[in-house]
Amino acid sequence: MEVVIVADVASGASQVAHVVADLVSRQPGAVLGLATGSSVEPVYADLARRHRSGELSFGTVRAFLLDEYIGLPDGHPASYRQVITRQVVGPLGMSPEQVMAPDSMSGDIGPACRSYDEQIAAAGGIDLQLLGIGTDGHIGFNEPGSSLGSRTRVKTLTDRTRVDNARFFGGQVASVPRHVMTQGVATILQARHLILTAWGTGKADAVAACVEGPITASVPASALQMHPHATVVLDPDAATGLLRRSYYEEVFAAKPAWQGL
Ligand code: F6R
Repeated sequence: MEVVIVADVASGASQVAHVVADLVSRQPGAVLGLATGSSVEPVYADLARRHRSGELSFGTVRAFLLDEYIGLPDGHPASYRQVITRQVVGPLGMSPEQVMAPDSMSGDIGPACRSYDEQIAAAGGIDLQLLGIGTDGHIGFNEPGSSLGSRTRVKTLTDRTRVDNARFFGGQVASVPRHVMTQGVATILQARHLILTAWGTGKADAVAACVEGPITASVPASALQMHPHATVVLDPDAATGLLRRSYYEEVFAAKPAWQGL
């Protein structure tokens, strides 16, 4: 796992966007895995800027959403399909058909979950998966206790996550759905490159547990330690709980530029 501590959110977002841009320019049919939320929004904004400047085309890229709420009416502005339409599909000049989302409205949710994993496999797997981390250590919506071998399935959000996400529902915790459909931890680990971004002191404990704690289902993000190519990009506030912080900084400073992330 590589830990990169950046000067600020803008610089972190730009470095992650550079990785996406580099992948898409080398491999125009690349498959991206898209998270939703404050951790990835600045990355999408940076990519949108690059697309507007003509630097980058997403015309043949495919993408898979990481997760989706269950029970929101079609077109609800907080549904992850809608968020990605606003932040990625439109700004990056993609068509909605290029982006797959968990079919969380399916009346037959079990097969819909299995089918999502099959669709990812049929696309050749995810080349680059963007991730945020929950304050309770979740990735996707794999809450603490999630099997590290889990596949796409239905999960129940913790109260803490519902409180954290109430800001996307006008501050109303009661409006945040209890259930979600999420890629499993094992599904996420199959992506060829994982980049997790975290900003702010609110994420510091979860980041420390993810990076330096034991690998445990109690902190699903700790499964990243088992991945051969996982990159954790942090602003200084999100890095405050790390014991080996100065070592990560030393390693990154000494890294040859050609290696990239
Ligand atoms: C969203 C997702 C979640 C978020 C996490 C952090 O698709 O899968 O794991 O990444 O809850 O959310 P933010 O970035 O809003 O703090």
